[in-house]
Amino acid sequence: MEWIDVAAFDTLPDGGVRGFEVAGRPVALVRQGAVVHALHDICSHQFAFLSDGVVEDGCLECPLHQGRFCLKTGKAMGGPVDAPVATYAAKVEGGRVLVCLDRPAEAEPDPGAEPAPARRAADETFVVVGGGQAAGEAIRTLRQRGFAGRLVLVAEEPQLPYERPPLSKEILTGTADAALCRLIDEAAARGLDLDARLGRRAVRLDAAARRLALDDGATLAYDRLLLATGSRLRRLDLPGSDLPGIHYLRTLDEALALRRAFGSAKRLAVVGGGFIGLEVASAARAAGLEVVVLEREAALMSRLLPAPAAALLEARLRAAGVTLELGAAVSGFAGEGVVSGVVLADGRTLEADLVVVGVGVLPNLELARDAGLEVADGILVDAAGRTSDPAIFAAGDCAVFPSPLRGRLRRLESWQHAREQARAAAAAMLGEPAGYASLPWFWSDLFGGSLQLLGLPLAGDETVLREAPDGGALVFALEEGRLVGAIAFDAGARLRRLAGAIERAARVDAEALADPTRPLDELIASLAAGGSLIASPKRGGPKDSEQGQHAMIDRTPTASPLRNDPDGFEWPAEGLSRIPDWVYTDETIYRREVERIFHGRTWNYVALEAELPEPGHFVRSNVGPTPVVVTRAEDGAIHVFENRCAHRAAEFCRSLRGKAKEFVCPYHQWSYDLTGKLVGVPFRRGVNKQGGMPADFDPKQHSLRRLAVTTRRGVVFASYCDDMEPLEDYLGPEILREFDATFDGRGLRILGYYRNTLPGNWKLYHENLKDPYHATLLHTFLVTFGLLVAGNKSAMLCDATGRHGVMASAKSEGKAVSAENRQEMRAYREGMELKEPRFMNFVQEFDSPWSVTMTTIWPNLVVQREMNTLGVRQIVPEGPNQFTMVWTMFGFEGDDEEMTRHRLRQGNLMGPAGFLGLEDNEAMKFVQDGMLSGAAGEHLVALDPATPVGTSETLISESAIRAMYQHWRGVIGV
Ligand code: NAI
Repeated sequence: MEWIDVAAFDTLPDGGVRGFEVAGRPVALVRQGAVVHALHDICSHQFAFLSDGVVEDGCLECPLHQGRFCLKTGKAMGGPVDAPVATYAAKVEGGRVLVCLDRPAEAEPDPGAEPAPARRAADETFVVVGGGQAAGEAIRTLRQRGFAGRLVLVAEEPQLPYERPPLSKEILTGTADAALCRLIDEAAARGLDLDARLGRRAVRLDAAARRLALDDGATLAYDRLLLATGSRLRRLDLPGSDLPGIHYLRTLDEALALRRAFGSAKRLAVVGGGFIGLEVASAARAAGLEVVVLEREAALMSRLLPAPAAALLEARLRAAGVTLELGAAVSGFAGEGVVSGVVLADGRTLEADLVVVGVGVLPNLELARDAGLEVADGILVDAAGRTSDPAIFAAGDCAVFPSPLRGRLRRLESWQHAREQARAAAAAMLGEPAGYASLPWFWSDLFGGSLQLLGLPLAGDETVLREAPDGGALVFALEEGRLVGAIAFDAGARLRRLAGAIERAARVDAEALADPTRPLDELIASLAAGGSLIASPKRGGPKDSEQGQHAMIDRTPTASPLRNDPDGFEWPAEGLSRIPDWVYTDETIYRREVERIFHGRTWNYVALEAELPEPGHFVRSNVGPTPVVVTRAEDGAIHVFENRCAHRAAEFCRSLRGKAKEFVCPYHQWSYDLTGKLVGVPFRRGVNKQGGMPADFDPKQHSLRRLAVTTRRGVVFASYCDDMEPLEDYLGPEILREFDATFDGRGLRILGYYRNTLPGNWKLYHENLKDPYHATLLHTFLVTFGLLVAGNKSAMLCDATGRHGVMASAKSEGKAVSAENRQEMRAYREGMELKEPRFMNFVQEFDSPWSVTMTTIWPNLVVQREMNTLGVRQIVPEGPNQFTMVWTMFGFEGDDEEMTRHRLRQGNLMGPAGFLGLEDNEAMKFVQDGMLSGAAGEHLVALDPATPVGTSETLISESAIRAMYQHWRGVIGV
């Protein structure tokens, strides 16, 4: 036993760590007061020097993934580490630190040691199905906790359970081999007395009989069963999908095959900018390949990252020389015998001799479903992994569990989650009290740096970006002023210190957090110590500190779709061709729509100027569900303000329209002028100097909430957003052209109003007018009289954002409907005739190739130009399941009596009881009824896959509906 002199005691920082090489071995010395601890300096998890880490709470924390090791025992205490690090005996003599490499430090008894494990009868059989992290973890935990019965593993892959994180990292870069992935090797399996059925699939689960059938005909009787079936890859089914050279990555074999393919490839195309895609891109760059990443959404990793973090990641990729194609629509793969490129819907082909597809996973739920367990988008379990059957448990990617954060049901696809949930489930299988409540945590190693996520960063309504003094960056996610998650770029140690603050949702003021005069580490320390961050005196937007570090607050609504949602809403994995029912029926979604759409960055139709010819004229209207008043003031300008008294919130304006000099609230007679300014408060100064408003009451501070206003060609729009873009930009050129064709500069003349309430979701109305498919099938009148027929010249136009649309058709000129088309058109009625032949006359009056245009202007306007009947329809939502349509029919100044009659007559096509409108109303009610019937599901909007979103030339298309939901998801953040 040799004591080696390593360092002078007083060169070691108290409470800190330094690394040394002692007889060729890396040793970390940690000084705590008079005591020195010596530990092996390399992390047991992945290669990193622990002496580059942090000392905290009696542990040494690895800088790479924040694995923590007990200073006294070397035991792994948390983070992604299982295995301990070696400790060495250390002593201080004569001011020198001596270390003995042959002897471990003397360990004290571990106060945190687990209690004596509960044991179950040795004649019981526990079966675990799965071969990944959750399965392996559960098996080890069961034995650690003293399970002495028979333990059977059924795994489809021919190997014992292994970990997947290295597959897309070290295995691809060639810095480690398969051994690194092993959770349980053969020796361990023997030690665990594991009956491993490898390469075998479980095919049937009989929960009542507690029996599991395998694909080799064997049947296993069990006392307890764990479903750790995980998930399988989503595969693309596109032309050329099966060409050699297209790889997927889920298994060890696939990782090894991809590693080999790196050797001969020059240019890699990665489809999917999620975890797999980016880690593969990172490894491929390291191997010297050219790399292009094609991501369907507008941002990378949109399932988990808020916009500012996605932007940082994007910059990192570009800096690493990766070419990025965001918003990419992959339509197939090119190649003769072997892949040579990726084909995009816009017609381009991107050359590539190797393709990797990483477009997400689907949970494996078949066994659970067949057995009759409760299943949603995962197997429903409680906090301890118990399913609806008392003998069956589930853990990992396949389980939906009540999240510790805000108690929502959640399915998490993460290594840490699989591990901890499996441990909890194993304890519960043994009948021990169990639960799992850690924060969600993800990490990735990308382009030489690290990315980590803690909590629910996407739940935030604002984010604060702080650059760290030493180069990393943190993005904090705040929801209503509380810290709900954070993302670290090369700042994992700082991130981990925020765990407590995220767990307790600490109060944090965004401005204070972004204040560069307050050092980042000081703020973190204060949060870690249980504090909150309250507003600092300085306020403002982007700032730079004296050291040049940058801080920024971002309040754009969660911008990108397909994210794990704070309220548990998750869009179906198939993408825009499916729309879940909750989009139309859920109260939370509806409240977000009001806040982010109607009260957000939109122009909302409120009135026609023709209704307000003179000062004093007013119209009672709505922006979303919120009542507003539209007035023309003395100076001729149009004003829009909330119809809500500043005193007690009464909806003071009661007439639908009229003329007034001022508005007086009936309740307490508070009065407002035509611009919404508070002008009179009765008994403001009390009576006989008694009562009344406080002396400092300033009426100027209590005017009505006023909205921004814009008009075009006699149409009035309002917005809650004060810096809206001009209406022309909001509409975009395609929609503006059709808008201007109808509102062609002639003065408008109001012909009348309808108003009807529909028992459906407000978006169904938009969809109805973005769905030309229904028109030829539902509407007898339309097809019988040739207004819109499959085969007519027609189009479904969309603007670039997908939110607005125009359904356009040219009336067939006396052309008989072809026999072929007629067969398809169920609504066609032979022999039906019009008693009033003038009804279908079309007087050419517009500069447009279309005789019919139905323009939907997001979010609340439909402009109807059905031959010569003209109208605007305002959509007023009244909750998720009801909305009111306000129809204003109009003609033009200069119309003669005959033309006005003609417009009114033709108006019978539309309206609440019109020949077409009636059927649409019914159809929408049927849809809403279907959704409210209790069987939750999704809608299929898959027509015309050649046009994934946007303008379509065919009527048999749902591309405009998909375009609208692409926009909607971005704004709503699901
Ligand atoms: P993912 O869900 O993380 O990312 C899939 C990406 O593909 C998304 O960005 C999505 O928008 C995009 N996408 C979907 N369809 C597309 C299309 N047709 N064209 C272009 N892009 C499309 O899933 P990923 O990356 O496949 O990973 C699979 C699983 O493995 C996930 O559960 C993931 O969490 C896990 N994993 C985790 C890692 C980590 O934690 N470091 C590393 C690697 C994988």
